[in-house]
Amino acid sequence: MPLALLEFSGVRNLSPARLTIHPRLNLVVGPNASGKTSLLESIHLLGTGKSFRTNRLEKVLQHNTDTLTVFGRCHTGADDVALGYQRRDGENEIHINGEKADHLAALAQRLPLQIISPDTHFSFLKHARFRRSAIDWGLFHVEPEFFGLWSRYQRLLKQRNAALKQPGKAIDVWDDSLAEAGEQIQSQRRSYLDRIKKYIDQYSKQLLHDADMTLRLRSGWRQGEELAPALKEDRARDREQGFTHSGPHRADLELLLSGFDARQEASQGQWKLMTLVLRLAQLEDFVIETNRDCILLLDDLAAELDQQRRRQVMALLASLPLQVFATATEQSHLDTGAWEGFKVFHVEQGHITE
Ligand SMILES: Nc1ncnc2c1ncn2[C@@H]1O[C@H](COP(=O)(O)OP(=O)(O)O)[C@@H](O)[C@H]1O
Ligand SMILES: [Mg+2]
Repeated sequence: MPLALLEFSGVRNLSPARLTIHPRLNLVVGPNASGKTSLLESIHLLGTGKSFRTNRLEKVLQHNTDTLTVFGRCHTGADDVALGYQRRDGENEIHINGEKADHLAALAQRLPLQIISPDTHFSFLKHARFRRSAIDWGLFHVEPEFFGLWSRYQRLLKQRNAALKQPGKAIDVWDDSLAEAGEQIQSQRRSYLDRIKKYIDQYSKQLLHDADMTLRLRSGWRQGEELAPALKEDRARDREQGFTHSGPHRADLELLLSGFDARQEASQGQWKLMTLVLRLAQLEDFVIETNRDCILLLDDLAAELDQQRRRQVMALLASLPLQVFATATEQSHLDTGAWEGFKVFHVEQGHITE
């Protein structure tokens, strides 16, 4: 469901704006520090209630302003959906078609989006939490029951961790349900990765040439063991340290380049290409499994790739039913040859013109 209209105010250095969006390709062009990434950030807020640059939303709020607002209107044939996100006094407020919603997931369900940027390459390299959530993005959007399962697991984990901190309080009452939900999450993650393997192979052939890229999931507990006995074995250690050591909340996704851990061995350029391959594979899986459109925020591609690879990526993206927002300092950095139509937004010191 492409975004047709975007309005915002109070976002970083950007002046309030009301933009009519192209259904396929939107180029965001402007000099350094003009506000290009901030424009992508505002769309990301509308689709997730989160920034991809910081987990402190107060940083995104414009200096000397107390309210940040993003509003969007999406078209799907006959249907129109209006989405609103507001941040004020440290609280989020979400509106769907004028009605208040109480969960950020309500935004994500309506506005699936994916982001490829220098910021996300870095966090993906540094933190297992981002690598886990890459897998869970796919499951959240493709498997209808995943969100419920994941929420249940988080709730049980929280209860167990709270009990661990109270001396004498039994924890074994949580373990069976926790183990069951945990095994289910692990098995869904595994099938998802098996399913996207064919796309990983296809895109890595195109973008990584001879190097062979594979994914390996680490479950988050002792290899080859089931979760229930692992939880039982951990009880003394968990109690001592006040948290649950084993479970899918400790899982990790390893990216292997010709069989070796890419985080240790790949060059920066190779790492960026590998995360790009992973995202492309996920996007392709998403559109095939759900038959829905997806937004892709593509920040500063020129900083990542040489001209030939940029052209390849732009052509690959044109073949998927995506709505793309791509930033660059020069329009010529982004090859639009494979696209039927597009729109250019110029950003200059926070002012956006079409
Ligand atoms: N909370 C804020 N309020 C006002 N300006 C900000 C805030 N946070 C960052 N900025 C400024 O916004 C400008 C635009 O940043 P950015 O969107 O990253 O630019 P670009 O991606 O075009 O290089 C920068 O000059 C930055 O200093
Ligand atoms: Mg930028």
